[in-house]
Amino acid sequence: MPEINQDRLISMAAGFQYSKMLLAANELGIFRELGGKSRTAAEVATALRLDPEAAGILMGGLVGLGLLTCKAGRYANAPDVKKYLTAEGDGSMVCITRHMNHLYGNWGSLDEIVRKGRPKRRGPRALLDDRKHNRDFICGMFEIGMGTAKLLAQNIDLKGVKKMADIGGGPAQYPIAFSQVNPETQFVVADLPNTLKVAREYVKKFGLTKRIKLMECAFFDVKDLGIGEDYDMALLSQVLHAEDDRKCAELIKKTYRILKPGGRLVINENALNEDRVSPPPPLIFAVNMLVGTSGRTFTVKEMSRWLKDAGFKAIKSRRLHERSVIIEAEK
Ligand SMILES: C[S@@+](CC[C@H](N)C(=O)[O-])C[C@H]1O[C@@H](n2cnc3c(N)ncnc32)[C@H](O)[C@@H]1O
Repeated sequence: MPEINQDRLISMAAGFQYSKMLLAANELGIFRELGGKSRTAAEVATALRLDPEAAGILMGGLVGLGLLTCKAGRYANAPDVKKYLTAEGDGSMVCITRHMNHLYGNWGSLDEIVRKGRPKRRGPRALLDDRKHNRDFICGMFEIGMGTAKLLAQNIDLKGVKKMADIGGGPAQYPIAFSQVNPETQFVVADLPNTLKVAREYVKKFGLTKRIKLMECAFFDVKDLGIGEDYDMALLSQVLHAEDDRKCAELIKKTYRILKPGGRLVINENALNEDRVSPPPPLIFAVNMLVGTSGRTFTVKEMSRWLKDAGFKAIKSRRLHERSVIIEAEK
């Protein structure tokens, strides 16, 4: 960790200003509007129906951050900004950046939550029920999750896996990546209706409608998952951290029941090391869960307890990277 000094402290203290400039510009469509051209602030403000003075000041701030350049009063996207923030699609960060903007409000109540505890009965549903927020969230999961999905596809034994369920599968990036490695596997993505609308877009785009079936499943509102049984493999990727311990244990039990004997559950989580104070990504992510959900981040030991209680054996884990620990367990 770099040492704490005045420069680091002020950049942390003012970090929300930098962050909100990026988030607002992305939300308003300033990067998209500039695209590959150069324009005056007034032209951008007219096209996007913004207040001209305020747009000019924000665009100046974006030059200060290095996200835009400006020559003779004409603004343009910095080269890498054009790559990441002008359009949705391959390699884009447009949706995840919009998703971060939707989380911004939650973070404003951090001190209050730490004083009084989080409000009771909270889950990720507010974010999931709003169509626009849900779309940005789920497309954002594709943008930042496809890399890990490809890595996991290379690091997991998919031989003999004929039928796999991705529970809370979001944009279906794992079935999409796994389908390239094992041409025999048929997949079910079980998720909420709004999310499945987004998943459908990706499944179609990759030409996988025959291999990836999308099934509605609100996994806490049902006694059994209702997506069939005899699965060779089930995946729970980045799902548990949004829920409290009791619900995590419940979901793992329900997943156990859909597997055939010898079937495997794979968990992918942004997990803490057993010392509970490393590595940094799950420590910081836990605060994001604190302000928005009933969840947090877990250690492998905690997740293994739920697996054992559900009946799983042969539990093994490994860290794929700083944000991803894989746990495999057998029925
Ligand atoms: C953080 S995303 C993870 C998506 C994907 N598995 C990944 O690794 O990127 C959590 C997923 O769980 C789904 N989800 C959350 N609560 C749910 C519920 N009660 N029933 C079914 N799906 C739910 C969300 O719609 C979302 O797709």
